[in-house]
Amino acid sequence: MKTIIKIAVSGCCQRGEFVDECVSNSFDNRFQVNIVAGFDPNKDNLVKFAERLSIKFDQRANCYDDYEEMLDNEKLDAVFITSPDYFHYEQAKLALEKNIHVFLEKPLAISEEECHNLVQIAHKSTAKIMVGHNLRYMPFIQKMHQIVRDGTIGKVVNIWVRHFISYGGDAFFKDWHAEREKCGSLLLHKGCHDIDAIHFLGNSYSNVVCAFGQQSLFNELPKAKYQKQFFKAEDKQQRVNNWPPEEQQGFNSKLDVEDNCMMMMQLDNGIQCSYMQNNFTPDCSRNYTIIGTKGRIENFGNSAVHVYLNRTDNYSINGDEIFEFNEQEQSHNFTNNLIIRDFFDYIIYDKQPLVNLNDAFYSAISCIKGTQSMRNNGKRCEISAFRP
Ligand SMILES: NC(=O)c1ccc[n+]([C@@H]2O[C@H](COP(=O)([O-])OP(=O)(O)OC[C@H]3O[C@@H](n4cnc5c(N)ncnc54)[C@H](O)[C@@H]3O)[C@@H](O)[C@H]2O)c1
Repeated sequence: MKTIIKIAVSGCCQRGEFVDECVSNSFDNRFQVNIVAGFDPNKDNLVKFAERLSIKFDQRANCYDDYEEMLDNEKLDAVFITSPDYFHYEQAKLALEKNIHVFLEKPLAISEEECHNLVQIAHKSTAKIMVGHNLRYMPFIQKMHQIVRDGTIGKVVNIWVRHFISYGGDAFFKDWHAEREKCGSLLLHKGCHDIDAIHFLGNSYSNVVCAFGQQSLFNELPKAKYQKQFFKAEDKQQRVNNWPPEEQQGFNSKLDVEDNCMMMMQLDNGIQCSYMQNNFTPDCSRNYTIIGTKGRIENFGNSAVHVYLNRTDNYSINGDEIFEFNEQEQSHNFTNNLIIRDFFDYIIYDKQPLVNLNDAFYSAISCIKGTQSMRNNGKRCEISAFRP
């Protein structure tokens, strides 16, 4: 008989839907995960959640409109917190204080103080916490990491990242994501994935950052009282037709986050890095370039990593070697499954996951400091170390 692991979800729809993959994953027949409960302040989303579990898995989950009551009633092994960023701290804190394992969506928290406190609370708890930095698991990042680790491009000197976000208007400027108070900044909300990947690739954490950013487009457009208009994956055609951004509507009237930003970082080991984000590009991709003393690597979308080792004084798109990834390896779902497996291996077998709490802390704190710099004319900001 397989061991049953009981989990609950806080934030049952949108990102919360990925938690279903815990139930569908076979975990190599080692154990079975059941979603026994869900909390969501939105009643409609609770109903959808219950229907989803019933249809997909013929399972019944208890629905709660009180988070703490759910934690107290359900004898949980773990809770998945997929609520908006401004609830991460309180919800993770409460679960850790009750010694319930936590899978927390990124970012760790939205203020410096919350990040420090949560780390201290985690250290006191007997429960474990893991943060959803699934970009680390992306095959193109893994391949770049392997090339760097093998020494193929020599000593790494620079990591440059450009982040083109076509769907920024739909996803981030019509609801809570648009408000500083609720997400900190988009440098934090979205960029924390990439800063974590930079730390992973550079094998070091940022110790100083500075950033620029501005509101260039969405703040000028017609706003409406809260009205979300994000098209889901199944509405792909409708979504891509929502263009150009200047014709989009329904923006959050309290919108005060930057729609483009650039951060520079120096890592503890001396590698200098940059991260640039724009939320109204026509196309959508992350482009990483890593330059070492013997060569350079660059990814093209999620589909390929090109390696440049020999000098040519002309532009060469192909370089000397190309590593390609199949359709499945390019998908978000691929990384979701890997991070889910890592989480359960961590809480059940104490196997160290690919991304740990220090990683999540330094990614969040670097972005929070970068946001302070961005709002203070690019002022240099030092990164504070862990409190003991
Ligand atoms: N790692 C990834 O790939 C990835 C992708 C998307 C989102 N996320 C993260 O997931 C989280 C949710 O993002 P989203 O876009 O799905 O947000 P969302 O606004 O769509 O909300 C998600 C769910 O949370 C519910 N909710 C709202 N307030 C809540 C509260 N106080 N407590 C519990 N649930 C609440 C909503 O009703 C909804 O069901 C964010 O922290 C985001 O950073 C991560």
